[in-house]
Amino acid sequence: MVDLSQELFGTTFQNPVLLASGTCGYGEEYSDLIAVDELGGIVTKAVTPERRLGNPPTRISETPAGMINAIGLANVGLDGFKREKLPWIREHLSRAKVLVNVAGRSVEDFVGVVEGLEDEDGFLGYEINVSCPNVEGGTMFGTDELSLAQLVAALRRATRRPLVVKLTPNVAEIGNFARICEENGADGLSTINTFPGMLIDVETRRPVIGNVTGGISGPAIKPMGVFATWKATSRVEIPIIGIGGICNARDALEYILAGASLVQIGTAMFADPFTAPDTIRGLREICERQGVTRAADLVGALEVR
Ligand SMILES: Cc1cc2nc3c(=O)[nH]c(=O)nc-3n(C[C@H](O)[C@H](O)[C@H](O)COP(=O)(O)O)c2cc1C
Repeated sequence: MVDLSQELFGTTFQNPVLLASGTCGYGEEYSDLIAVDELGGIVTKAVTPERRLGNPPTRISETPAGMINAIGLANVGLDGFKREKLPWIREHLSRAKVLVNVAGRSVEDFVGVVEGLEDEDGFLGYEINVSCPNVEGGTMFGTDELSLAQLVAALRRATRRPLVVKLTPNVAEIGNFARICEENGADGLSTINTFPGMLIDVETRRPVIGNVTGGISGPAIKPMGVFATWKATSRVEIPIIGIGGICNARDALEYILAGASLVQIGTAMFADPFTAPDTIRGLREICERQGVTRAADLVGALEVR
């Protein structure tokens, strides 16, 4: 028997496979298709202080080996999340761990959402989205070292729950940003959010995406995600959640070998909603074949020389 569990953030994840923010709603959306509570966990759509309608259409389109999106953080807002979404999560998810993805335009926005959720139960901790390329200022905190330090420090004062910061790959040296998060009290990191990109309709000579630009995700970004994860793990002690282009167990294992304790799957779920359960099964099979009894032993097991 292979043990897929991972101990981190003071709790046990039953397996390392989570669904990525913005691609699984609040869990309920997938519940007719897969056993959501059998997953390692889910990360909710970003929650902002106010309800947001998001960007004008077209908001998603396919690209070679992936997709482009500019949803613009459309979400039900803090009160809507508490009233409309958290009750389902509380009732249906007891084994899968839930991270609430938090977004905002200012330190006050982020802290306000976290403080507004502190008295609620039903979720483990927060994933702080400082890396959204699809709203004005969405990557401001993720690309400026001082702003990031101030934000993480302020959030650390606001909560004792696990605080995970989701980094953008769109910086020269992601290791520096990883280190800043750790130094200011983050419990973990998620690497990576989408890459900024564009798609142009040559007949209309217009951008395909209503927001003009968007974020690229899916298999196209997997090597960059693995690279970012590897770079970040070399600079910090805190655990890392690997994200970007994961479509199967082998992809997930690349991230784990590079140093990720957990992984998240996003875009691949749109093409095949069984990707996450298949990935869990596939990880078990690979471990069995390789004679690995604890998947946790594979974290960072990459041999470079
Ligand atoms: C439609 C869509 C919406 C997303 N919304 C969010 C979001 O609200 N917050 C966030 O941190 N990341 C968001 N992301 C980024 C994903 O969580 C993930 O980091 C990225 O898509 C890379 O993983 P993937 O290649 O497996 O999709 C979104 C991605 C997509 C495709």
